[in-house]
Amino acid sequence: MSPAMNLVAETERENELPESLSQKGVIYLCKKGIENVPTKYILPPLERPNLSYTSTNSSSHNLNLPIIDFSQLQGSNRSHVLNSLATACEEYGFFQLVNHGIPNQVISNMFDVAKRFFKLPFEERSKYMSTDMGSAVRCGTSFNQNKDSVFCWRDFLKLSCQPYSDVLPLWPSSPTDLRQTTFDYSKELKNLYLMLVDAILENLGLLENSKEEDESKNGSCGLEEFEDGSQLIVMNCYPSCPEPELTLGMTPHSDYGFLTLLLQDQLVKGLQILHGGNWVNVEPIPNSFVVNVGDHLEIFSNGKYQSVLHRVLATSTSRISVASLHSLPFNRMIQPAPKLVNEANPSRYKPTDFASFLDYNSSSEPRQKSFLDSRKLT
Ligand code: OGA
Ligand code: NI
Repeated sequence: MSPAMNLVAETERENELPESLSQKGVIYLCKKGIENVPTKYILPPLERPNLSYTSTNSSSHNLNLPIIDFSQLQGSNRSHVLNSLATACEEYGFFQLVNHGIPNQVISNMFDVAKRFFKLPFEERSKYMSTDMGSAVRCGTSFNQNKDSVFCWRDFLKLSCQPYSDVLPLWPSSPTDLRQTTFDYSKELKNLYLMLVDAILENLGLLENSKEEDESKNGSCGLEEFEDGSQLIVMNCYPSCPEPELTLGMTPHSDYGFLTLLLQDQLVKGLQILHGGNWVNVEPIPNSFVVNVGDHLEIFSNGKYQSVLHRVLATSTSRISVASLHSLPFNRMIQPAPKLVNEANPSRYKPTDFASFLDYNSSSEPRQKSFLDSRKLT
């Protein structure tokens, strides 16, 4: 009898595990040797991924996302790349960023330490489990394991990055290199993000003469508020799944911030975006980041750039990703940039802030773009 069968000796089916075991996360369950997806993770039939249709092998559902060559954004070709970036943000909400200049070692160290964190014994990882959605360090499973009626096939570690002096001592002390590696990685990603924001503000027409215009308060914005902005590093682990057709690594969602920079597993596909009504795979490109527009940029751009629904398939091979989510400082209101609002183009969103986002997420399940929809002025 397998260890998992011992655990559920009284129940007939292996997938009817007690809820308390699901609370320990998918890595824990997989280590116990489960052979079926437990009931807690089984999506209603209409929400399942329909793998025969969206097969990761089916070329008809592979999307070539726009590729933005970051090195060219810094050179004489800038105006051309700015145009490609504007199209990517407007028509896809997603792009692949290549030649970003972040040293390979910084990236491979980050990936490697994330892998090793998820290999730690449950007892070690569970020290960082928290029911507080606003906690600076939070390890867990699904999205919000206190509320989600069906769990996602995913364990995560979320690390808030500001201010470093407050949060670093709270980050996991094991593996011993986790703090330094994540610190180095988050600083590189923040710089990269700021350079992307600079380009996006230029595309939105919000940067010209920013100093003088800032002073006359006519709606431009300096980069300072972005420099002081929030950053969250999310390490995701999607263990090998025995029945990928019944569950999802992440259910359809949009990201809340301005931009997310995602380091995907180079070998295992799983990320899909909703494009033209179809779920399409985002192909891993070596040494690239997948960048996507978040809800706050949608609001800030008054709907010009829209956040896009995406999801993660559970797969038969385990997969790791590391997302860096960026937005304005926690206490800042997020609203359409005044310069983008006029009579012909009235404000389409209510101002929002992190506190209301966190309240919303702690009180309800993330479903599609429901938070953003709640901020829309009709
Ligand atoms: C996320 C996300 C995708 C992935 O962390 O919000 O969408 O491939 N991740 O892990
Ligand atoms: Ni996401």
